Amino acid sequence: MTNQPTVETEVGRLQRSGRDVSTIPAVLSQWLSTVMPGGVTPDVTVESGIDSNGMSSETIILTGRWDEDDRPVEEKWVARVAPTAQDVPVFPTYRLDYQYDVIRLVSELTDVPVPRVRWIDTTGEVLGSPFFLMDHVSGSVPPDVMPYTFGGNWFADAPAERQRELQDATVEVLAKLHSIPNAGETFGFLTEIDPPGPTPLHRHFGWLKQWYQFAVADIGRSPLVEQALQWLEDNFPTDVAATEPVLAWGDSRIGNVLYEDFRPVAVLDWEMATVGPRELDVAWIIFAHMVFQELAGLAGMPGLPEVMREEDVRATYEELTGARLGDLKWFYVYSGVIWCCVFMRTGARRVHFGEIDRPEDIESMFYHAGLLKRLIEEKP
Ligand SMILES: Nc1ncnc2c1ncn2[C@@H]1O[C@H](COP(=O)(O)OP(=O)(O)OP(=O)(O)O)[C@@H](O)[C@H]1O
Ligand SMILES: [Mg+2]
Repeated sequence: MTNQPTVETEVGRLQRSGRDVSTIPAVLSQWLSTVMPGGVTPDVTVESGIDSNGMSSETIILTGRWDEDDRPVEEKWVARVAPTAQDVPVFPTYRLDYQYDVIRLVSELTDVPVPRVRWIDTTGEVLGSPFFLMDHVSGSVPPDVMPYTFGGNWFADAPAERQRELQDATVEVLAKLHSIPNAGETFGFLTEIDPPGPTPLHRHFGWLKQWYQFAVADIGRSPLVEQALQWLEDNFPTDVAATEPVLAWGDSRIGNVLYEDFRPVAVLDWEMATVGPRELDVAWIIFAHMVFQELAGLAGMPGLPEVMREEDVRATYEELTGARLGDLKWFYVYSGVIWCCVFMRTGARRVHFGEIDRPEDIESMFYHAGLLKRLIEEKP
């Protein structure tokens, strides 16, 4: 998910969430001896000081070392650990096993690059919370902190043609994911927690409204979110909602992709994956950039106005898929509300852990509030 601009190490987060980091290597080594083939018991090292874009689950980088036929073997893995209720999680329910299954299915059904998923503990008994291991992939992510639109990073400082190459290759990822046939059946498990409704979008919208209420319980109401939810209700895109649903990656942003030479080498962060209209992902990828543009503007910087323009993304996507996208505005507002709910939760967490005082107005933490207001106030 998306991050508030705070800098903290994953090890710091582990300590904060009450887990003793020093026991992780021995515990994981023992557990790996039960799941790895060949009776191997690897030595496990936790790499510290991970520079992560993440905020809603824990990501730990590990190295495993063992001998095979008297030769040393070394593998680098990433553990993704589900948050516990004490961590003040972003989402009310969290299915780490579903993320594992989606990544595995995407690797089987497409040539979209995803990390190879390895072993999963669904019981929570090993680390105190479910987790899985995947292969570590080398690459670079456009940074969230500070936002890549602020400049001074590999993506912002690259020539425009290379930025466009990265954009097109990432839109191609969406096109490929959305071309998986029978997504509603294959990935139906992802929508199991959504309340009933006539279409996947109605159901997802129902889930969003429940999520907002969950967030309100800890941090209070937001009139802006409630106004936006009403707007979404009043302008519900019945036609788009009725189209054949696709696998939506969910948190489709360039900040969730590892790139090598401007090409995706690993598509990460599947915790918001769902089934629904293709517009969900297409709008999200554009909106995420709009938010970063907004931030650059607030900081008095030009940002990257040529990147992720709707007309370009739409043209690339439609050419690759042969599909026609509907109007994206409803989906921008929808994305904006999701960002608000994330900030309500990450705000509640920072209050809970004493990092900030409880804000008088939760909307002061929505740094995209201006953008969202403009969207719902502008004439169609
Ligand atoms: N398989 C991997 N190989 C290499 N690096 C990875 C891998 N998975 C995650 N990372 C690193 O961890 C960071 C966070 O990963 P990811 O986006 O999946 O988590 P996040 O969902 O943003 O965190 P959160 O869900 O906690 O908000 C990535 O930006 C990347 O730097
Ligand atoms: Mg992420």
